[in-house]
Amino acid sequence: MTDTLKVTKISKSKIDQVDFSKLAFGTVFTDHMFVCEYKNGAWQTPEILPYGPLQMDPSAKVFHYGQAVFEGMKAYKDDNGDVFMFRPEENFNRINKSSERLAMPAFDKAYFFDGLNTLLNLDKDWIKSGENNSLYIRPFVIATENGVSASPATEYKFIIICAPAQAYYSGEVRVLFADHYSRSADGGVGFAKAAGNYAAQFYPTELAKEKGYNQVVWTDANSHEYLEEAGTMNVFFRVHDTLLTAPTSDRILDGITRKSLIELARSQGITVEVRPVKVSEIVEAAENGSLKEMFGAGTAAVISPISGFTHKDKKFDLPKPEDAYATKLKKQLTELQANRADDPFGWRYEVPALEV
Ligand code: COI
Repeated sequence: MTDTLKVTKISKSKIDQVDFSKLAFGTVFTDHMFVCEYKNGAWQTPEILPYGPLQMDPSAKVFHYGQAVFEGMKAYKDDNGDVFMFRPEENFNRINKSSERLAMPAFDKAYFFDGLNTLLNLDKDWIKSGENNSLYIRPFVIATENGVSASPATEYKFIIICAPAQAYYSGEVRVLFADHYSRSADGGVGFAKAAGNYAAQFYPTELAKEKGYNQVVWTDANSHEYLEEAGTMNVFFRVHDTLLTAPTSDRILDGITRKSLIELARSQGITVEVRPVKVSEIVEAAENGSLKEMFGAGTAAVISPISGFTHKDKKFDLPKPEDAYATKLKKQLTELQANRADDPFGWRYEVPALEV
């Protein structure tokens, strides 16, 4: 721990009030949070504080212009009680890329890792070992400067909160291919984890939910002919035995689970084609039976098999192959993440045990 991190511990943990067998995703938070303020052109001394409400002026820019970005990460505990994260440097780099696109200052790497390591040591008991258990970590940055002039703020808060997690989707996931609304456009902010990217999906996703779908798979805004991502996950298609996924661009999130899966699958001899995927080829593959699987991949969703999709009122159910890539890759990925398997890629990060 650096001597620049100020820690104020809670007086009594609330962990006893939590039923870890029934956790709705992202609804229960741990005892502490990390907060660092930006002002006068610099990040100030970071702090760990008891988890609790923030006091902010109603004119703070985040409320008016949505100047906010976030990340999603996870920590895992193995059977010895040691704690691990998965490729955390990727999240650090990505939050700064997102911040840059929203005219926000880059965060400090030492503060980020000291904050995470200390927070995870303090709230270690909230991380449960075993399959499907993890601690979801949500770093985010918000514009806190007061005043409603439409210009980038000069003051921000970088905050990290943590929520014990199990599955993001319980049950089957059915999706709708977008043919009217769009998530992102060329030159836009689709690649960034900007808060507004998610808010903008809520309305069309609610319309899809009313029709029985869990998610929309977004298509390119110009023609709606190419499949892009599902908003909470990148998407993979297995046609015959080849995995297809769209290339990242300024419209698509550079998912860490996505890129890890591409490497993991290729290392096992699975052919992965990273290329524009046409709606028409997936519809045709579903019609002729060569579409064997479809799944979403993301930190929160891990790997979520998709049981069916609809495009322009044509509804398709997908088979449930016994040798599903989704099942096999999910097992390999989650075992690697939680230190239950070797890590030939060097992706696992062991959280150092600290005296806190
Ligand atoms: C994540 O997987 O961490 C995400 O950001 C998805 C989230 C919107 C639940």
